Amino acid sequence: SKGEYRHYMLKEIFEQPKVIEAALEGRLSANSVLVESFGPDAQALFQRTRQVHIIACGTSYHAGLVARYWLERYAGVPVQVEVASEYRYRHPVVPEGTLFVSLSQSGETADTLAALRFAKTLDYIGSLAICNVPGSSLVRESDITLMTRAGPEIGVASTKAFTTQLVALMLLTLSVSKAKGQAEYPDIIAALRTLPEVCQRVLALDRQIEILSQAFAEKHHALFLGRGAHYPIALEGALKLKEISYIHAEAYPAGELKHGPLALVDSEMPVISVAPNDDLLEKLKSNLQEVRARGGQLFVFADESVGINAQEDIRVLTLPHVHEALAPLLYTLPLQLLSYHVAVLKGTDVDQPRNLAKSVTVE
Ligand code: M6R
Repeated sequence: SKGEYRHYMLKEIFEQPKVIEAALEGRLSANSVLVESFGPDAQALFQRTRQVHIIACGTSYHAGLVARYWLERYAGVPVQVEVASEYRYRHPVVPEGTLFVSLSQSGETADTLAALRFAKTLDYIGSLAICNVPGSSLVRESDITLMTRAGPEIGVASTKAFTTQLVALMLLTLSVSKAKGQAEYPDIIAALRTLPEVCQRVLALDRQIEILSQAFAEKHHALFLGRGAHYPIALEGALKLKEISYIHAEAYPAGELKHGPLALVDSEMPVISVAPNDDLLEKLKSNLQEVRARGGQLFVFADESVGINAQEDIRVLTLPHVHEALAPLLYTLPLQLLSYHVAVLKGTDVDQPRNLAKSVTVE
């Protein structure tokens, strides 16, 4: 039941600290990930992994895009990420030592399942499913699995399934790195342990985000910007807004602005940007200046230490500091809340948006 919450989506957003904790439970040792979490065959498979292909749809695809940044940076493994409906009709080239990874909340998405079946006819070393539903088709048909443990997700707009997928993908990243005898990252492990509590602090900003959301209710378009691993978070923020508020939203890597989308920016265009304190911050700040110079309305979700101050044309929501590696996960939360509140203001059916189904079991 929804309990005290008005919608399942809101309940599921607020469950995230708890389910992230569940996703980590029993899977960490003092300084590393327990590779056995992926099953007894995982160690041997990860040792042989020289590349990774990630396949998924929708929000799960966005989680895969984040994982590309992580696996390449922290495990030194090249990664390709693709939507299942494209992948299954291509003629993918599979280099030696490639692991196939599928991501799905339901484990029953038709295109993702078909992609797995197709992949089995190709030269992969094995298949891993990261999934939220035990016993689903994807889980049954993959060589190894990791469950995300988000619990049932009722809202059509995926929230807690996404953030627990990100946790699972960070566990994968660290496990592959370790199995290949590369770096271990005790700092990231420590940050993972504090993540539920940091998420709780972000959720406490709900009221402030609700106030921000008022600026969107009358808008027809919105632009989301991020850089690096936050580009997929911008994509996810835009997808959430589209799905439940029916506002047309697009996401761009901030560096692409002047290659086209800047032409759309005027005083009617809200521009939402995620600004964690990472090595792309200075570049992002200059992208934001480009928006301001065109009179765009900026909404910035920023790390407390970055020093972007609210001004007449910039509204800033400050987030607690978190390890750079985990910032994409944390910055997802305010974007979920923002689209939720905009949808409530617009009076749409938040849990059952028009034209959409929770599980897309047809092609
Ligand atoms: O169950 P899956 O993760 O395979 O579902 C994939 C997409 O259909 C799903 O993420 C969809 O995009 C959601 N409605 C997003 O909120």
